[in-house]
Amino acid sequence: MDTLQPGQMLGPYRIINQIGKGGMAAVYKAYQPSMDRNVAIKVLPSQLAESKEFTARFQQEARIIARLEHPHILPVFDYGESDGTAYFVMRYLEAGTLKDKMEAGRPLPLNEIDRIFTQLADALSYAHSHGIVHRDLKPANALIDSYGNIFLTDFGIAKLLESASPRLTQTDAIMGTPAYISPEQAQATTVDQRSDIYSLGIILYEMATGSVPFAADTPLAIILKHISDPLPPPSLIKPDIPASIERVILKALAKNPGDRFSTADEFVTAWKRALEEKETVRSVPEAIPAPTSRALPAEPAHYSPDALRERKPAPASTAAPRSRNSTIWIVGCLAGACLLFSIAGVAIFGSQFLPIFSQATATPLPTDTARPSVLLEDDFSTRSSNWGTLTDSDSSIGYAGDALNVQIFREDFVAWTTPNNTEYENVHIEVTVVNNGTDPTTAFGVMCAQQVDDWSFYYLVITPGGEYLIAKATTGKSDVYLTNNAQWASSNLLARNAPSYRVGANCGNGTLSLYVDGKQIASVSDSTYITGRVGLFTWSGKDAPSADVIFDDFLLTSLE
Ligand SMILES: Nc1ncnc2c1ncn2[C@@H]1O[C@H](COP(=O)(O)OP(=O)(O)OP(=O)(O)O)[C@@H](O)[C@H]1O
Ligand SMILES: [Mg+2]
Repeated sequence: MDTLQPGQMLGPYRIINQIGKGGMAAVYKAYQPSMDRNVAIKVLPSQLAESKEFTARFQQEARIIARLEHPHILPVFDYGESDGTAYFVMRYLEAGTLKDKMEAGRPLPLNEIDRIFTQLADALSYAHSHGIVHRDLKPANALIDSYGNIFLTDFGIAKLLESASPRLTQTDAIMGTPAYISPEQAQATTVDQRSDIYSLGIILYEMATGSVPFAADTPLAIILKHISDPLPPPSLIKPDIPASIERVILKALAKNPGDRFSTADEFVTAWKRALEEKETVRSVPEAIPAPTSRALPAEPAHYSPDALRERKPAPASTAAPRSRNSTIWIVGCLAGACLLFSIAGVAIFGSQFLPIFSQATATPLPTDTARPSVLLEDDFSTRSSNWGTLTDSDSSIGYAGDALNVQIFREDFVAWTTPNNTEYENVHIEVTVVNNGTDPTTAFGVMCAQQVDDWSFYYLVITPGGEYLIAKATTGKSDVYLTNNAQWASSNLLARNAPSYRVGANCGNGTLSLYVDGKQIASVSDSTYITGRVGLFTWSGKDAPSADVIFDDFLLTSLE
């Protein structure tokens, strides 16, 4: 088919101009005199129009789509054939497509994403309930009217074109744009509505971050990434994306259709809940006053999702360098802990942390003579130390009343903070901890000998499920479990799901000892690091989606 010229008639429609050309077809703006309106006409490639069988099926498909009546599905007005040219006629929309809107490569504001996503998902849900899978969901097929409303178009066209593939030479065109293709569609296996959910997830990813997750130089390379590359978490591109929203996107983009939302409605419900959650979670930490510290600002830290993606359970004994990024170490050790965690008893308790602190049992200091010199005492009421605080989509460390609250909004994630940049040697640390969340696998405790130049340190932690661990983290290496032969250990001395724990540690003279509620739980020898910063440490747990821990009454004394 030659390009249609302005003024030329196609059946009863007068061509105004060509407005677009997709992989397979050309789209024209045209005038329909009988109705005195402009329309859009999609003209099929001539190779296809020549086939009677194909045009018959195309017409049948156009009729099915024409029956879809939904406020966010573009109406199909007509189907026609003229001089060997097959076409269908749709409502003309003047404001471009979602693709044009995303062209700038910038994330859209959340309220706009919400509006667009909800309209797209509603349209999909309706089509799915009529047994129609879109199969080519992408921003170019989401048209926009002058009020900013979305209209989904090109339903089922991809399927028709695929079925006609022997007649076509432009194989990449059959795929549409690979950036939005589901892994199962890319592998030519049977697809159902969950394939559309994946594509909708990619659109959501793009609106939230400004870019699609998988890009490459060739369509094939992109397709392969959809099939086998791990999804770059949206927070890698947009670190302040709310964790609740990130979780919804990750679920929609599961490689296995069975792990996704099974319906568009389910997807929307999770999305709306994530939006609400994002608001409540964010409002928890109170505003943090400007530090009035005598010490240098302390840097809080948490582990990046990038590191988590490289997660490999590794026995600590190998201690092989795995990454230039020290964030790796915790992952290996914690993966080893998972078995223990999974068999730990689960009991849910509601904590009323404020009155509990006064009941905490003091951990006896190792010297039973005079009270050793206090290096730092902080009940978090005066903001006299300079604890590092942060709030982003992964975690939040901040003051909550007269305590320090560490929240983690994703699974398998670590957050820690230090009160200052002072390097201490031979110290006893203790702190009262309340597991303000309900998960018995949340791990919390203290860290010591944290090296100022990197992330090497010791950490001594327990869980409300009764596990404990003393470990050494060395930048670029797997961590080394110093207790229980490279395993998390379980202790009867640890109360299960206690309302609060007084966690203590001695770090000095080549010995690391863990105390809880006045009892020594474990003691090991290691003198790799002698001096360093001290701090508080929290891990959300391998399979727990979040953690919420309250620290209070921090005490640091000298062991000498
Ligand atoms: N009803 C319409 N009103 C206004 N413009 C339209 C309409 N339909 C399509 N267009 C424009 O024509 C362009 C080409 O559409 P077309 O469906 O042929 O290609 P595509 O969606 O980019 O890719 P594919 O061939 O994979 O569908 C669209 O991107 C859009 O800009
Ligand atoms: Mg299209």
